[in-house]
Amino acid sequence: MNFEGVDLEALARREGTPLYVYSSAAIHGRLQGLQSALHGMDALVCYAVKANSNQAILQLMADVGAGADIVSGGELRRCLRAGIPADRIVFSGVGKRADEIEQALDAGVARFNVESRAELELIQQIAAARGEVARASVRINPDVDALTHAKISTGKSENKFGVSITEARSWFATSGERPAVRLDGLHMHIGSQILNMAPIREALQRMAAFWRELEAAGHAIASIDVGGGLGVRYREGEQALPAADYVAEVRSALHGFKGRILLEPGRYLVAEAGVLLTRVLLTKHGEQRDFLVLDAAMNDLLRPSLYDAWHDIERIGDNAGRPTVAYDVVGPVCETGDTFALGRLLPRCDAGDLVAIRGAGAYGASMASTYNSRPLPAEVLVDGGRYAVVRRRQSFDEMIAGERPATDWERP
Ligand code: LLP
Repeated sequence: MNFEGVDLEALARREGTPLYVYSSAAIHGRLQGLQSALHGMDALVCYAVKANSNQAILQLMADVGAGADIVSGGELRRCLRAGIPADRIVFSGVGKRADEIEQALDAGVARFNVESRAELELIQQIAAARGEVARASVRINPDVDALTHAKISTGKSENKFGVSITEARSWFATSGERPAVRLDGLHMHIGSQILNMAPIREALQRMAAFWRELEAAGHAIASIDVGGGLGVRYREGEQALPAADYVAEVRSALHGFKGRILLEPGRYLVAEAGVLLTRVLLTKHGEQRDFLVLDAAMNDLLRPSLYDAWHDIERIGDNAGRPTVAYDVVGPVCETGDTFALGRLLPRCDAGDLVAIRGAGAYGASMASTYNSRPLPAEVLVDGGRYAVVRRRQSFDEMIAGERPATDWERP
C-alpha cells in the first residue's frame, strides 16, 4: 500500500512498528476545504490541539494560518513553540488552574472559553491583580443530544461542560461587577464524532437566539465559537460531514452577526489523514475464536477499548488468493479490553505481516500511554513521496526518566 507516494512496507521496515503515519496532503486538503467554505466570513479555524498535538502537525496548522483551541498550559506551550500566534489561541476546559490562567494572560491568548461561575470569578481576580482585562466567552451548554457516543457527548445538561443559558444570562447582567473580564463572546461544543446535522442545527439556533437576545439587551458580542465535533468516516457507509454543508448551517444560523466566528475542529482535520502501522506478532487459533495478535495495543491506540470505536483494518500487501478469516484483532496488553476489533473479516494473516489501522490521525498518539511499560510509538509525517520522523520512538530510558527509588525521604 502506498500512502502519499510512500511505500508503507518499506517505511515500516525502516522505522519499525507500531508507527503512526500522517499525510500532510490529507490534512492540508481538509483544512483548505474548510477555509474555502468559510470564504467571505470573518472566521478563524482554531484547531483542537488535543486531537493530535505533535509539533509537526501544529506547525502545519500554523503555516496555513489556523489558530488553536487549547485545554491546558501544556497545549499552550506546544502551540507557541510551533509558531501559532497567541492571538489565534482560545483556551477552553472545565478546570483551568490559576497558574494556567496566568500563563495564558502572559502569552496574550485571544480569549478564555469560561465554563463555570467559579472560573469566571477566578479570571476576574487574576486579571484584576495584574491590572489587565481578560477577554472571555461563556461556554453555553445548549442541552442538545449530539447523537454520538455517550463518552464524547458534551452538550446535554447533565454533562460537566459549560453553563445553561439561564446562568449565562446572569453573567452578562452582572458583568459590571467584573471589570477585569470583558465578557463579549459565546462558545459551545456539543460533542465529538457528530455525523448528523440536526443536533448541530438545533444547538446553533439556540445559541443564535441567545446572541440576538443579548444584543437586544445592549451586550455587544464580538465572537461566537461554534466548537468542533464534525464527524469523520471510520467505516464504510459513514461519511464525514461535508464542510460546505456544515458552514452553510453556521452561516444561516448566525446570519447578520458582525463579529468573528471561531470553529474548533480537531478530528475532522486529522483523523482520516493518519494510520497506525503494526505487525502481526502471531495468530492464535482459540477454542472459539481466531486471534490476530498485533504489536500495537490499547496503550498506542485507546479508542477501540475506551469507546468500542470502529477503525478499518487492512492487511498490507498482495491479498489475492488469501482466504477470508474472522479475527479478534488484539494487542499484547494484559487486558481483555485490549481489543481493536471482534470477528473482523480479513485476508488470512501470518506472523510478520504488516497491518494498517485506519482513521488513527486523531486521538491516537495524543491519547497514547506507556501502560505495560510499552514505550510510546514513533510518528512520521509523509509529504509527496518523502517522510520525516516527527516523534522518535521512545527509548526505555526516556520512558522511566523521572522515576527513582525512594532514597531521598523528605517531610512536607
Ligand atoms: N472543542 C472543545 C471544547 C472540545 O472539548 C473538543 C473535543 C473539540 C473542540 C474537538 O472535537 P472534535 O472536532 O475533535 O470532535 N477522545 C475522543 C474525543 C474527545 C473529544 C474531546 N473534546 C475520541 O477519541 O473520540
